Amino acid sequence: MDFSTILKTVGILAAVSAGLSVIISIAESVLNNYGECELDVNNGKRLLKVKGGSSLLSLLASEKIFIPSACGGKATCGLCKVAVIDGGGPLLLTEEPYISQEERAQHMRLSCQVKVKGNMKLLIPEDLFNIREFVCELVEVEDMTYDIKRLRMKLPPGQTIEFKAGQFVQFYSKPYGKVKEEAFRAYSISSKASEKDHIELLIRLVPNGIVTNYVHTALNVGDAVKMSGPYGDFYLRGNCEELIMIAGGSGLAPIRSLVYDVIEKGLPHRMRFFFGANTLRDLYYMDEFRQIEKDYPQFTFIPCLAFPKPEDNWDGVSGFVTVALQEQVDSAQGKEAYLCGSPGMLDACIKILHDKGFDDQAIFFDKF
Ligand SMILES: Cc1cc2nc3c(=O)[nH]c(=O)nc-3n(C[C@H](O)[C@H](O)[C@H](O)COP(=O)(O)OP(=O)(O)OC[C@H]3O[C@@H](n4cnc5c(N)ncnc54)[C@H](O)[C@@H]3O)c2cc1C
Ligand code: FES
Repeated sequence: MDFSTILKTVGILAAVSAGLSVIISIAESVLNNYGECELDVNNGKRLLKVKGGSSLLSLLASEKIFIPSACGGKATCGLCKVAVIDGGGPLLLTEEPYISQEERAQHMRLSCQVKVKGNMKLLIPEDLFNIREFVCELVEVEDMTYDIKRLRMKLPPGQTIEFKAGQFVQFYSKPYGKVKEEAFRAYSISSKASEKDHIELLIRLVPNGIVTNYVHTALNVGDAVKMSGPYGDFYLRGNCEELIMIAGGSGLAPIRSLVYDVIEKGLPHRMRFFFGANTLRDLYYMDEFRQIEKDYPQFTFIPCLAFPKPEDNWDGVSGFVTVALQEQVDSAQGKEAYLCGSPGMLDACIKILHDKGFDDQAIFFDKF
């Protein structure tokens, strides 16, 4: 085959492929054109007119109804459940792991997976209508460890956030570098619930993570940051004498807020905070928690290093946090447990708590 024939063939193939992509995009726009759809929320209390074709989660958010979601719509957190009484179509494979038989009977769906293709009837808990969106100013960034940053954000003038210590916000990243779209993830609030005009978060860098790399590499003091919240049911119940608090890594965030809440409200609970880390470089807020221990005898801080290095000169508890828990918590009597950290660590700790007689009603956690 001579060179001009090759060129002609390549040209024809390119033209065919361009033609096909035009046909596909026309077909997509026709197929995805579901027109205006009506979302009936809570038996006609709210009637929303939306343009079909997107996920229920994103269309509700565009109407300022914020459904909890931590994974950004990837069907991995299972938090975005909404009852779709009519118009949701069949349950999808991606939803099945998160929707129990009981929830299926209540028409529960993952709103990030359900595409709005027509009119729908929805039931949404009234308290979710209190969730708001804030565009804050980033006023401080501090390196707490080599991979955890503390962000302090100021709410717009005159605006405040009411949250229960332990709850989280959804934090939005903007397009940056090769990431072309906005993304959002859940982050527990680490600051005091009494401080209503600022929010602090502790964000650990996840290799190749979209939002954490945005925070660690692209975000600067003075930038505007979008958040919505508050969300979540990880907050103090306090029907007990003592709170057993357990955290690893950035899981310290909601525990810090909880500790201050108990102190500021003058609650009588004793608190024991087990903080698990690998080596000395993973520990942070040490001086602050040591000071709280001095000022408030009801609080005991137990940092545990799983792999202390000789140069760490560590004279505290050595070993996994599970070992300290096993040795230092005698029984479940009069106690509630609040845990936050990685799934592996939390599962191991919860097993120990069960063995000691804690029932599930006395164990509260956020796994991430
Ligand atoms: C209720 C709740 C509260 C949370 N609070 C905090 C908090 O206070 N501080 C905090 O730093 N994070 C917190 N998280 C985790 C956070 O929401 C994100 O999942 C995390 O920051 C990763 O986001 P990313 O966009 O950088 O990574 P993604 O782009 O989502 O993920 C990139 C890759 O990393 C993997 N990956 C995701 N998360 C982790 C992880 N934690 N460790 C290892 N690999 C991971 C993914 O499977 C994927 O392959 C919380 C999560 C939940 C559900
Ligand atoms: S947003 Fe996480 S499962 Fe839907």
